[in-house]
Amino acid sequence: MKVIDNIEELKKEIKALNGSIGLVPTMGALHDGHKSLIEKSVSENNNTVVSIFVNPIQFCAGEDLDKYPRTLEADLKLCKDAGVEIVFTPTPEIMYEGDKNNLTLICPPYAAVDKLCGKSRPGHFDGVCSVVAKLFNLTKANKAYFGQKDAQQLFIIKKMVKDLNFDIEIVPCPIVREQDGLALSSRNKYLDTEERQIALNISKALKLAQSDYKKGIATKRSIVDNTLKLLEQMDVEYIEFVDDNNFEFVDALDDKTRVLIAARTPNSNTRLIDNILLK
Ligand code: PAF
Repeated sequence: MKVIDNIEELKKEIKALNGSIGLVPTMGALHDGHKSLIEKSVSENNNTVVSIFVNPIQFCAGEDLDKYPRTLEADLKLCKDAGVEIVFTPTPEIMYEGDKNNLTLICPPYAAVDKLCGKSRPGHFDGVCSVVAKLFNLTKANKAYFGQKDAQQLFIIKKMVKDLNFDIEIVPCPIVREQDGLALSSRNKYLDTEERQIALNISKALKLAQSDYKKGIATKRSIVDNTLKLLEQMDVEYIEFVDDNNFEFVDALDDKTRVLIAARTPNSNTRLIDNILLK
């Protein structure tokens, strides 16, 4: 496995690869969710490239850029054990040639970002799309793997690929959960035992929404009420309902409805997101 931190060498090594290339873009602090993306890429491609880059331009002022968990040694071991060919670990200076405030950015349309996570994180998806587009160009990947936990991110990246005719297939991968249901996230590292129990209510609320829907007794109102009750110890940013195909808000629930929650824990103020397709 090659660990590469600069663009020239990455280009050279990408050129030397034979066969298909799968890309798994990450910000490191790899957990079993990332592992599942990496394993899928390894099983579907001749070569897998993992990028580990805490991308400063997708963090807003006051967010956790400085304290975002960095666990490079363990990340490299996970990649090596999974059979990855190349890990790309650039610094911001290398990625953005020393000037992250003077960049050409990719800006998804207002309708896609003026909701859900985009509403409280202005510029976040510009930063995500811009770094992901750079990674697509640098790695010349045939497929790229993204988790469904970041459902809005996945939707926006698929839209970018379609709108800008990127020659790459986006592979959505299911949310990986702890045994008790908590969705895996690098930010779970911020939670102590008490907060972890509180955070667990997000996935409980989503599971309840899905089981009530399947029993035919769910409405948007009942889901919101149950969720707010379960999440009373958290600061709930949103509970929303979108059509999974176009990410537009829906009035009535159906099999295509995705329920999405963002909420903050009471002590560490950790912002967690999770979602479920009702069907
Ligand atoms: O989902 C993430 O970890 C990041 O948003 C991504 C896609 C690696 C871009 O920095």
